[in-house]
Amino acid sequence: MELPVKYTLEKKDGNARAGVIETPHGKIETPVFMPVGTQATVKTMTREELETIETEIILGNTYHLYLRPGDKLIDDFGGLHKFMNWDKPILTDSGGFQVFSLGDLRKITEEGVHFRSHIDGSKHFLSPEKSIDIQNNLGSDIMMALDECPPGLSAREYLIPSIERTTRWAQRCIEANRNKDRQGLFGIFQGGIYEDLREKSFEELYKMDEYFSGYAIGGLAVGEPREDMYRILEYMTPKLPENKPRYLMGVGEPVDMLEAVEDGVDMMDCVQPTRIGRHGTVFTKYGRLVIKNAKYFRDPRPLDDGCDCYVCRNYTRAYIRHLFKAEEMLGQRLTTYHNLYFLIKLMKGARTAILENRFQEYKNNFISDYSAGST
Ligand code: GUN
Ligand code: ZN
Repeated sequence: MELPVKYTLEKKDGNARAGVIETPHGKIETPVFMPVGTQATVKTMTREELETIETEIILGNTYHLYLRPGDKLIDDFGGLHKFMNWDKPILTDSGGFQVFSLGDLRKITEEGVHFRSHIDGSKHFLSPEKSIDIQNNLGSDIMMALDECPPGLSAREYLIPSIERTTRWAQRCIEANRNKDRQGLFGIFQGGIYEDLREKSFEELYKMDEYFSGYAIGGLAVGEPREDMYRILEYMTPKLPENKPRYLMGVGEPVDMLEAVEDGVDMMDCVQPTRIGRHGTVFTKYGRLVIKNAKYFRDPRPLDDGCDCYVCRNYTRAYIRHLFKAEEMLGQRLTTYHNLYFLIKLMKGARTAILENRFQEYKNNFISDYSAGST
C-alpha cells in the first residue's frame, strides 16, 4: 500500500540532508523547524503571522486536545485543520511524552497508561488504540506512535522492558489506524544513552517499515548531557533509512539543531522559542538576550541586528523592554514572533547551505557568532 506521507531526498552535504516531505496538506521543505501548537494554537500567533514567517508545519498534542476541548468536538468541526483555521501540514504527538511528564499522576501497564488530568484531576486511560483514535479524530497529516519516553539517564534495567513495550505499542498503533490512506504514522525509537539499546529499538520498529512514513528519535534532550545526545545522534542517524524523514523530538536550541542537521536529522520541534519568548528571552545572532535587563532601557536597536523579521524591522529593544516591564501582552507577541522566525530561518539557511554544498561553513559561522554572547 502507498503511504500518505512521502519523502524525497534532494541533496546531501556530508550527512546533512535537504529534502521534501509530501503530505495530504502540502509539501514541507527540510530541514525544518516545527512550531508547537499544543492547544490548537501556537501561543500568541495568528495563522497569518505563522504564514508570514513561512511556517511549513505545526504540532498539536493528543493529550491536551483530548482533555480539552475533546477530539470529538474537533472531529465535528471537520478536524484540527478546520477547527484552528490552519490548512498546511499538522503533526500530532501521541500523548505519551505529555502523560509521562505527569509524574505521580500516572501508572504504566502493558495495556496503556492510567493518568489523572492536570486540569481537574479526573481519571483517564491512554492506550495505543486510544491515542490513534484521538489522532484520527484530529486528522493530522503525521501521527506519532504511542511510546514511553523515560528520563534521559534511565538505567539499562529500566529501559529494556520499556523499549520492548514501546515496540509492541507501535504494532498496535499500526493496526488501530483507521485512516491509513490519509494520515501517516511515524515510529519512535528510544534507548536512552545506550548505543546498543538504541539500535535494538530501531531495528524492531524497522520490521514494520512498510507502515511507517518516518522515524522519530525520542528520549533525547530529556536531562542527559549534551555530549550523550550528540553521540547517540551520530551513532544512529547513519543506520536510518535514506528514504524516510528523521524527526528529532523536543530539540530547539539553535546549536543543537545545527549539530542534528549535520548528522542528517530533517525535522525538529520544541516549545523553547515560544516559552522563553513569553518570559522575555530572545535568540539573537550573538546568543540569547533577556529583554528586561536594565541595560536595554534606552537601547534603540532591534532585538537582533542581524534579523529582518517584522518585529526587528519595526520595534526597538527599549520599547519591547517597556512592554514587558508594564506587562503588556504585545511584548509576548513580539518576542514569540521573533523567536519562531529566528529558528525557521536558521533551518531555511541550513537547507540552502546544504543545496549549495557549504553546510559546514554555515554551521561554523553561526556557532562562532552565537557563542560570542549578545551585548
Ligand atoms: N517529545 C520529546 N521527546 C519525546 C519522546 O521521546 N516521545 C514523544 N512521544 N514525544 C516527545
Ligand atoms: Zn527579528
